[in-house]
Amino acid sequence: MLLDVQELSVHYGRTQAVQRMSLNIEAGEIVTVLGANGAGKSSLLKALQGMVKPAGGQVQFKGHSILGHSAARRVSEGLVLVPEGRQIFVSLSVHDNLLMGAYTRKDNPEREIEAIYERFPNLAQRRDMPASVLSGGEQQMLAIGRALLSRPSLMMLDEPSLGLSPLLVKALFQLITELNRDGLSILLVEQNTHMALATAHRAYVLELGRLVLQGQASSLASDPRMTQAYLGA
Ligand SMILES: Nc1ncnc2c1ncn2[C@@H]1O[C@H](COP(=O)(O)OP(=O)(O)OP(=O)(O)O)[C@@H](O)[C@H]1O
Ligand SMILES: [Mg+2]
Repeated sequence: MLLDVQELSVHYGRTQAVQRMSLNIEAGEIVTVLGANGAGKSSLLKALQGMVKPAGGQVQFKGHSILGHSAARRVSEGLVLVPEGRQIFVSLSVHDNLLMGAYTRKDNPEREIEAIYERFPNLAQRRDMPASVLSGGEQQMLAIGRALLSRPSLMMLDEPSLGLSPLLVKALFQLITELNRDGLSILLVEQNTHMALATAHRAYVLELGRLVLQGQASSLASDPRMTQAYLGA
């Protein structure tokens, strides 16, 4: 088991954003967490990355509890988050943004940065430009490229398709599949239920901080409870 989350709760004052959520990921899986606005998806990811302190529960990564570890330590252990809204540094160049992704490493990342440029030619062409010139899709590529530079075992993506055109959404999900084939495990938070279920192996559905459904992505895609709540039928 790569990630094992037991009964995780996240509270903000009286708001119980995540309530006793349990979830696991095997190495090699794409797992998606679905849910409406405010369901607690980002809070779950922030707690896993170490950006918010859970009110309760256990998180084991590669067989060890990581709850006491800082966010930076979790990154160096192989757990990286591509946050909602990408959070790239718009005043820094594309290249410097990528360098930031390697901050937990001691070796020289230049060769891997070249590999990122090969994967994302749009970034290569703009390597010396400020990241503010990038389109939404290119910013998402930059955020993913930056996360890859930490050499993760598990990449968590928070609504990566938000604001992208249908064509770019397709390319993004293709990229997620390719990264997974190359050996990366993925925890994908999405509101694009159709694409997420078509791409993931398994899915969890959150409603108001609680887990309400879980199962194989293919069976949830035709589950009548999903159809009503999330598939717009
Ligand atoms: N820093 C915070 N302080 C107080 N309440 C918060 C904070 N962050 C989130 N919340 C609340 O916690 C609940 C879950 O929010 P969260 O951002 O985790 O949901 P989400 O599923 O990611 O939603 P969205 O799809 O809109 O991104 C919401 O009711 C939200 O208002
Ligand atoms: Mg969110």
